[in-house]
Amino acid sequence: MGNGATPRVRRNVQSLIADGDSGQKVLDDYARAITEMRKRDSGPGDPRDPLSWRFQAAIHGYPGVPGSIVHKNLWGSCQHASWFFLPWHRLYLFHFERIVQFHLGDPSWSLPYWDYARPDESARRLPEPFRVPASDANPLYTDRRRSTTNSASAAQAIPTRWTSPLDALRIQDFALPPEDPAESFAGGVFDKPDPPQGTPGSLEQVPHGSVHGFVGGEAGETDAGDGRPGLMSRFETAGLDPIFWLHHANIDRLWDVWIERWGASELPDDAAWLKTEFEFFDSDGTKSSREIGDILVSGDLGYVYESTEPPDELEVPERREILGIAAPGPRKRAGMPPVRLIGAAGDVPFASRSTVDIGLEGERRELLMAARPDTPDRWYLRVEDVVGESPRTPGYDVYVNLPEDERGDAHPELRAGGIPSFGIPEASRPDSAHGGTGITDVFDITDVVATIEGSGGWDASNVKVTIVPVNGDDDPEKGGDVRARRISVYAG
Ligand code: C2O
Repeated sequence: MGNGATPRVRRNVQSLIADGDSGQKVLDDYARAITEMRKRDSGPGDPRDPLSWRFQAAIHGYPGVPGSIVHKNLWGSCQHASWFFLPWHRLYLFHFERIVQFHLGDPSWSLPYWDYARPDESARRLPEPFRVPASDANPLYTDRRRSTTNSASAAQAIPTRWTSPLDALRIQDFALPPEDPAESFAGGVFDKPDPPQGTPGSLEQVPHGSVHGFVGGEAGETDAGDGRPGLMSRFETAGLDPIFWLHHANIDRLWDVWIERWGASELPDDAAWLKTEFEFFDSDGTKSSREIGDILVSGDLGYVYESTEPPDELEVPERREILGIAAPGPRKRAGMPPVRLIGAAGDVPFASRSTVDIGLEGERRELLMAARPDTPDRWYLRVEDVVGESPRTPGYDVYVNLPEDERGDAHPELRAGGIPSFGIPEASRPDSAHGGTGITDVFDITDVVATIEGSGGWDASNVKVTIVPVNGDDDPEKGGDVRARRISVYAG
């Protein structure tokens, strides 16, 4: 590692399958290692062996263990909703991969990744070896997944809007202070790891959180029939689903894609981030730790990805170009007018489709409008403090000015983005580090506003935001008990 040796290649699972026997062997080896790890599981009690399957999952989350990085077994230490998300999970995967290599006696084995963003629909289906054969004899299979995603013969593809990393990859700001009105690629800036924090980056939400929810499913959506959400839907069970590791390899890869697009110089240079270290168990069962500053180049950890090429579509902010609206650009660019609050609405329930008015009336609005330039060229929608214990859907679509009697899927041009359910219950617990204040999600709606402006329908004093739970049109309670304490619009 880091000694000039040629790095191993983490392969796309779809290319492995296309390769035939040699590719299949990588997946067979993975299945064999999982079987070895499960042999080390110590029955239903607390896991005891760091090299066992349940212990490895417990490091991500374990029932009854509040999130922290100080547990003696490192349980419940996953980092979410902050700029620690990517580096923590990078190291989690790195050590897991070493443990798989140990079980196989093969230091060349490399974790594959699931690239659900490739254009063909099959890429958006759960890879076949994970759902066929649908039997416990298949170590890659579990019935604790959303049944429509997990079907052996008729698996549904996850909708593109929930698998695409494009919105995230277009963001140049790696991390921003949690109170910044703009969105970041990788999460809010916090002094220290203290999970779960409340400001996920765009990538952590979509595709990361959404793929968790579309694979896991919520209560009533899985085949297991036990009334519990699927494994991938909660921190304390996610690592028990074999697809978790391939999903995270892709998220880790997308970090490299972002670096390829924007350059390593855009990574934070704050000591609070670079000097933070995380501990994991290594393949000899002892703890080892590394600083974030030492893991920014995946090749230094001994691996590279089959492809880290930024997608072609990344370069074309189409609607913005057509309408001649300036690109918002990085927040770091000097000389831009500040972004200001235009309006807000409080306490919005997500149980079913709901629409709120954002426009500010009267004097306050006059003041705010007077304080900003004639034509704001950056618009942000913030959905703040989203809390709830029991979502019943993988996520919520967020629209601006969606006509009342029309379905959201008929208006992709009015969609601000999506809020996955993943992470909301964990961030809502009163015993969590931030007292259950929930998740805040930010969307750049410059293009959406430009589209509405282009059709002559934009009026900053009459902005409506509509939340639609996935499949909420067919089931009026689909959104569960989730709600946002505030939804606000900023411009500048
Ligand atoms: Cu720590 Cu994908 O989760």
